[in-house]
Amino acid sequence: MQQNVLILDFGSQYTQLIARRVRELNIYCEIHPYNNPPKDISSFKATILSGSPFSVRAEDAPHPDLSEIRGKMPLLAVCYGAQYLAHFHGGKVEPSETREYGRANLSLIKDAEVLFEDITENSQVWMSHSDTIKELPTNSVRLASTADVLNAAYRIDGEDTFAIQFHPEVYHTSDGKQLLENFLVKIASVEQNWTPEAFVDMTVSELKEKIGDDKVVLGLSGGVDSSVAAVLLHKAIGKNLYCIFVNNGLLRKNEFESVLDQYKHMGLNVKGVDASARFLDALAGVSDPEEKRKKIGNAFIEVFDDEAHQIQDVKFLAQGTIYPDVIESVSATGGPSATIKSHHNVGGLPDFMKLKIVEPLRALFKDEVRRVGTELGIAKELLGRHPFPGPGLAIRILGDVTAEKVRILQEVDAIFINGLKESNLYDKVWQAGAILLPVSSVGVMGDERTYEKVVALRAVESTDGMTADWVNLPYEFLQKTSNTIINRVKGVNRVVYDISSKPPATIEWE
Ligand code: XMP
Repeated sequence: MQQNVLILDFGSQYTQLIARRVRELNIYCEIHPYNNPPKDISSFKATILSGSPFSVRAEDAPHPDLSEIRGKMPLLAVCYGAQYLAHFHGGKVEPSETREYGRANLSLIKDAEVLFEDITENSQVWMSHSDTIKELPTNSVRLASTADVLNAAYRIDGEDTFAIQFHPEVYHTSDGKQLLENFLVKIASVEQNWTPEAFVDMTVSELKEKIGDDKVVLGLSGGVDSSVAAVLLHKAIGKNLYCIFVNNGLLRKNEFESVLDQYKHMGLNVKGVDASARFLDALAGVSDPEEKRKKIGNAFIEVFDDEAHQIQDVKFLAQGTIYPDVIESVSATGGPSATIKSHHNVGGLPDFMKLKIVEPLRALFKDEVRRVGTELGIAKELLGRHPFPGPGLAIRILGDVTAEKVRILQEVDAIFINGLKESNLYDKVWQAGAILLPVSSVGVMGDERTYEKVVALRAVESTDGMTADWVNLPYEFLQKTSNTIINRVKGVNRVVYDISSKPPATIEWE
C-alpha cells in the first residue's frame, strides 16, 4: 500500500504547489476539498492544511472537521490553516497592521524543533496574508518570528501539530522543501517511495484487477498524456486495449503517418482513421474560434463513436486525464458536489456510450507523466513534444479553414519546427507554431509584384501554459527561417514574429 499524505484544500491558489513539493520528495499525496474529505483516512500518515482566500473571521469561512486528524496523525497547518487552529482554539486572529505580503526572514527560536532542522537563521520565507495571529492557541509554543510577524510558526504542545504563517510550497521560501521534508520524513516518518517505477508497478496491477478480461477503447492524440496512458494500459491488458487515432485533417505535416507508425512500433493495437474530409466539411465557412472548436469537438465524437461501436463488447473508455485537470474541477470553492470534467480532448462523450471510465494518470502532474513515460521506455521525441491543441491548425488559421490554407500552414509550420530542431532550439521552447493571418500583403519576387499571405511565427517559454513569454530566438535563426518559408511556400510572401507575452495575449491567436 502506498503511504499517503492528505492535503486539505481551503481554496488557496498555492494548494497544487504543496502537492508538487511533496511529490518532489518522492512522497505520494492527495488534495481533497476541506468540505469533502475522504471517508476512510486510514491510509494517510500525515495531513497538511492549505491556505485560503478566506479570513477565519468571515462568517462563511471554511470550518473543517479535524476530529479524526488532529492529535491522531502529524498535522502541518499553513497560513489559513495556522490561523484557523489559533482562532478556534483559544488564540486570537486580527487584521494585520503592517504589510504582510512578499519576502521576509525567519528568526528561529533557539532549539526550535525538528521542523526547522537544517534551516538557517534568517532563511527567506514568502508571506501572503492580511490577517495575523495575535495570540497563539492554548498550549502552544512559538517556534519562529519575522520582523513583522511575531507568530510566524508555532507548535501545539503534546501533539505533532505544527503551524506556519508563511508558504513553504512557493520557491521564494528558500528552505520550504527542507521544512516539508522535516515534517513528513523526520516527524511523520512517511516513506519516500513514490517513484515512477513504483507507480508503474502499482498502476499496472490495479488496472489488471479493475479491467480483468474486458476491452478498453482509448483515443490517442499523438500527445504525451494519451500516449503514456496507452502504454501503461497496454502493459496491463495487452491486446484488449483498442486505440483509435483520428486524423482530423488539422494535424501537422505528415504527423498522422509518422505518429501512427511510432505507435505501431510501440506494439500498440491502434487503428488510424482518416476523417480529414469530414472535419473540413464541418468547418466550411466557419470563422468564429469557439464555433470551430465546437464543430471539431462534435465531429470527433461522431468519428470516435462510430469506431468504438465497431469493437465488440467494449466496457471501458480510457482517458489521459492528469492531476491538474482533476484538481481544477474538484476545488474547495467548487463545493462537495462538483463533478469531475472529462479530458478536454475527449470531452462530452454522448450518453449512449455507457462506458466505464479508466484514467490511469489522474494522480500525476505533467512532469511525472513524462518520468513515467521514460520508465516505460517511450521515445524521448514523443515525451518531449510541444503541446499541440486538440483543434489543431484550425485555430491557427484565422478566419475560415480550407484544405489549401491547411496545406500552406503545414508547410510553414514544418519549416519552423524542423528548423528549431536542427538548431537545437526545440527543447528550449515550451511551445511553437505558425499562424496563417487573414491578410494579404504586397511583395516583389524577381520582377513580379505579388499579393500573398502573411504568416506569424510564435515561440513561447512557459511551465504550465497559464502564463508565457515569447522566446528571444536568435536573429540569424529568424532570418534563415523567414527566407526559407518565403522561398519555398507558395502563397506566402511575408513572415512576422509574435513578441507578445501571456497575459495579456494568449499563446494561440484564437
Ligand atoms: P492559450 O491560447 O489559452 O493556450 O494561451 C494555452 C494552452 O492551451 C492550448 N490550447 C488548447 N488545447 N484545446 C486544446 O486541447 C483547445 O481548444 C485549446 N486552446 C488552446 C494551447 O495550445 C496552449 O498550449
